[in-house]
Amino acid sequence: MEMRRDRPQPLIFKNGAISRLAMAKPYHIKITDPKDKPLVLRFLREIFYEDEPINSYLYRIQDENLRYLDRGLYATSFVDDGLSVMAVTSSGEVAAIVLNENVRYGREKVKYTNKKLETNPIYPKVKRIVFKAEEHIDLVMGLPSKNKKVLNLKIIGIHPKWRNKGLGREMLKKTREIAELNGFCEIRSACTSAFSAKMFENFGFECVYTLPYKDHKEDGEIVFKPPEPHTAIRGLVYKL
Ligand SMILES: CC(C)(COP(=O)(O)OP(=O)(O)OC[C@H]1O[C@@H](n2cnc3c(N)ncnc32)[C@H](O)[C@@H]1OP(=O)(O)O)[C@@H](O)C(=O)NCCC(=O)NCCS
Repeated sequence: MEMRRDRPQPLIFKNGAISRLAMAKPYHIKITDPKDKPLVLRFLREIFYEDEPINSYLYRIQDENLRYLDRGLYATSFVDDGLSVMAVTSSGEVAAIVLNENVRYGREKVKYTNKKLETNPIYPKVKRIVFKAEEHIDLVMGLPSKNKKVLNLKIIGIHPKWRNKGLGREMLKKTREIAELNGFCEIRSACTSAFSAKMFENFGFECVYTLPYKDHKEDGEIVFKPPEPHTAIRGLVYKL
């Protein structure tokens, strides 16, 4: 019997097989190309910095005019390592990004090459705590070397429409695949959000460092007071 064209196709067949239709995803995950930088920058500014706990805390207490001043240029430069990932919907919207850095031996160099981009006063505060966490991860795990390539997951952001749907996990899977293909031994990340830390631990990352925000002070003052449950920056490591 000929199947009527307008009849809905079964998503799960009687034998338990899942149809292609059901498996089709409304987004595709790909390696981020330098051509995608404007999209990444827009995502960082409109989504990531607004929701990430320590940036959004500083935004709330600082001058509104400085909000986007040069924001995201340094982060976008990680795309050039060719190891970053993005999920794009069929309509071309960015659903998620993961910016990954190939940690070169001697992190100091990487740290300061982009200093000229730092006109926004928010950067140094965020960078200082992130670098502190990264340096402690290095202390625990050892410095990267020629024979021990380390991928640093710098930024993960999922669009609010796509949170809690398993996309974060898929982004981590793609990052792991890229790391394996490129001969990395470890993925490291300084997680500023309790939500990402939880997601990472569920994926198999191990927490090797915790710095409570209440203990991170500059000139005797606590720098970040994000809302609960974001109480600490954590160093997480995944061994490949
Ligand atoms: C952090 C982030 C990437 C997590 O992505 P996600 O798709 O929400 O991830 P998950 O759905 O796997 O959530 C991870 C855990 O946090 C919980 N969670 C996430 N958002 C939450 C919220 N607003 N309130 C309470 N719990 C929340 C989830 O329930 C889940 O816990 P579970 O495993 O017990 O269910 C996403 O929230 C995001 O992009 N945030 C803004 C940018 C940011 O903070 N990035 C991380 C910086 S290191």
